[in-house]
Amino acid sequence: MATVENLFAAIENRISCYSLTNKSPISDERIHQIINDTVKHTPSASNVQSTRAVVLVKHEHEKLWDIGDAQVKKTMPEPAYHALAPRIQGFKAAYGTVLWFEDQAALDTLKTKNPGIQHVIPDWSQHTNGMHQFIAWTALELEGLGANLQHYSFMADFSKEVLEAWNLPRTWVLHSQLVFGQPADGLKRSRERTYAPLEERVKFIGS
Ligand SMILES: Cc1cc2nc3c(=O)[nH]c(=O)nc-3n(C[C@H](O)[C@H](O)[C@H](O)COP(=O)(O)O)c2cc1C
Repeated sequence: MATVENLFAAIENRISCYSLTNKSPISDERIHQIINDTVKHTPSASNVQSTRAVVLVKHEHEKLWDIGDAQVKKTMPEPAYHALAPRIQGFKAAYGTVLWFEDQAALDTLKTKNPGIQHVIPDWSQHTNGMHQFIAWTALELEGLGANLQHYSFMADFSKEVLEAWNLPRTWVLHSQLVFGQPADGLKRSRERTYAPLEERVKFIGS
């Protein structure tokens, strides 16, 4: 039975794990099922279901980070490329990546049906996409994988090349890349997380 304690235990277990290998403790079928369940059960504004996921593993995953490396080399000043290149090689050394997209065609339908809320639909699209990322990240780490979340889609050509490389619909807008693999030395944070005081972050009113 689902309990709040189990939910928060899962949430606390999720971390950014960067030291990943090209192995997986679970089968590709299990990974596929986790992403299917994430996409099926995560809510979206007016149930628009605009989020799309593409799971790349093994050689296809490596191909993604070769594209990432080439794009950073092309786009960034040389010192920035030299700083980022080892990180990108770290992502490439992992087992897989989930690409998270929003389908602009689905969002356009929602805009047409609800012209009065057109201006907030881009925000809501980001919200639902983030919920998907968080749920998949939490679920994969419960199964013994480590994962970290990347945003290389700030380079327009990276997104364009991704769509071309896997022949994806041109209405899909790339939001983030969730890199995953077997943790090299257990599921450990690279640095301890600090917590700002909750009294400053949460107000409880009317009790
Ligand atoms: C919206 C969002 C964007 C993030 N973008 C990146 C990113 O581009 N690269 C990265 O390495 N980590 C990224 N992170 C991970 C955060 O830095 C990390 O979650 C935070 O420092 C807390 O550490 P933890 O994940 O280990 O709990 C992102 C996290 C969130 C929620």
